Amino acid sequence: MTFSIFFTKKEENNADTTVIGIFEGQELSKTAKAYNKTQNNFVDQCLSSHTNFTGKAGEALSLAHKEFTHNHIILLGLGKKEDLNNLTFEEIGGELLIPLQKAGAQNINIHVEGIENIQNTTTAEIAAHLAMGLKLKSYKFTKYKEEKEADKKTKIETITIITDADSAATDLYETYDAITDGVFLARDLVNEPPNALYPESYAELIKNELKPLGVEVEILDERKMSKLGFGALLSVGQGSIRESKTVIMKWNGNGKAKKGDRAPIAFVGKGVTFDTGGISLKPGAEMDLMKMDMGGSAAVVGLMKAVAKRKSKSNVIGIVGLVENMPSDRAYRPGDIITSHSGKTIEILNTDAEGRLVLADALTYIQDTYNPEVIVDLATLTGAIMVALGFEYCGAFANDNKLWEQLKQSSDNTGEKFWRMPLDKAYRKEMESDVADLKNLGSLGRYGGACSAAGFLEHFINKDTKWAHIDIAGTAWWKTDKSTTPKGGTGFAVRALNDFVENNFENKK
Ligand code: BES
Ligand code: ZN
Ligand code: ZN
Repeated sequence: MTFSIFFTKKEENNADTTVIGIFEGQELSKTAKAYNKTQNNFVDQCLSSHTNFTGKAGEALSLAHKEFTHNHIILLGLGKKEDLNNLTFEEIGGELLIPLQKAGAQNINIHVEGIENIQNTTTAEIAAHLAMGLKLKSYKFTKYKEEKEADKKTKIETITIITDADSAATDLYETYDAITDGVFLARDLVNEPPNALYPESYAELIKNELKPLGVEVEILDERKMSKLGFGALLSVGQGSIRESKTVIMKWNGNGKAKKGDRAPIAFVGKGVTFDTGGISLKPGAEMDLMKMDMGGSAAVVGLMKAVAKRKSKSNVIGIVGLVENMPSDRAYRPGDIITSHSGKTIEILNTDAEGRLVLADALTYIQDTYNPEVIVDLATLTGAIMVALGFEYCGAFANDNKLWEQLKQSSDNTGEKFWRMPLDKAYRKEMESDVADLKNLGSLGRYGGACSAAGFLEHFINKDTKWAHIDIAGTAWWKTDKSTTPKGGTGFAVRALNDFVENNFENKK
């Protein structure tokens, strides 16, 4: 669904639905009071006959009456004034979409004028965040589904947010819209079925999406990767008929770096377009969900789109390793010893622990080629992180406290929840093999599986590189709707990482 969002000072006349805010305890906002007056105290009367509606954040009461100047009035709960901030406005925006759709609203006015003096934010920001919440929640993946007649008829066309800070809100929203586009791309990629999205088609799609925005895109094919000695990544892909690819994306918003310059920041993504487990085959139940095993790469690609669309004054590199993990007569096996791009040998004990192998070569390559000061990798790496944290928080491992603080700040700013997990010599040691340099399965098996996976990756990080590994296995796909995220692919981490780039790597001059 696409609708246009505008910000104006005065109410437009062509709206069929008007939304006015009510604070918790049925306290009318300034606009609600004014509205009440023009409608013969009807708002007051409705509130007294709807005592269940208390004005909790996101709660909505739809009213219709023939004497109204609009078809519908929706009273929107704003919660307690002291709890309001950018994020709660975003959530309220997301929650509001449902009653708007139910009311069959097409052209909508939302009044937020008079809602001011909210702590730590501005009138323009709350208006723009409300809009972003509406937009984020409006996402639907319907590419392969015929639209129902009823859905066609009830399409929201315009949303006008009435605010005194209309021009500042318009400017802010332009940026938020670019970020949302990045989130939507990441969601689309995760939602695409694995017969449509496989390494080759994925690499093409990245090129088509990002090149027009000014991102340099380089694709390494199997021949090139063999020459480079990507033994780990290629082993994972060798059971599949689909050719593996690595894609490197460069955004030079801060001017082209000179050869030999240390790159400021690189993002690395696991892009297993389908994870059957390989010869260590996964059980059948819910195997379909393993189309989301490229969620880390989707976050990187979505992030690149967001920074490019908002013309971020930063230099950002993205790299994604794209493979399909299939069993076949030429698939890699448990027992194999392979040689990674770093030269380290790896004993394969379970072909389902493939993500770390893909990441290992991408991590080595990006360090050798661009020597970034900071690397953040993203991966749907382990089921164990879901055992530890469920679906609410991703697990974030960082070898530098300042880097963790920066990530935590961006997590707080955007509401994408990061929880710090431990890196430890013991986890690194656990991944050492008797017959090769490393093994891909820890000695303790499932116990601490997210931590030993991070310990494995740490073997591929140079000493002077600040590095964070984000395990998003529990957050890349949600089975239920949340306030700003419909179920399915979530696009998780695009917003937090965009904030992280904006706050720490942008030239503010
Ligand atoms: N892609 C999976 C992890 C995963 C599980 C992501 C559930 C999303 C939802 C990963 O490749 C995997 O299979 N990991 C194994 C590792 C084990 C064999 C050491 C796991 O978590 O069981
Ligand atoms: Zn696996
Ligand atoms: Zn996997």
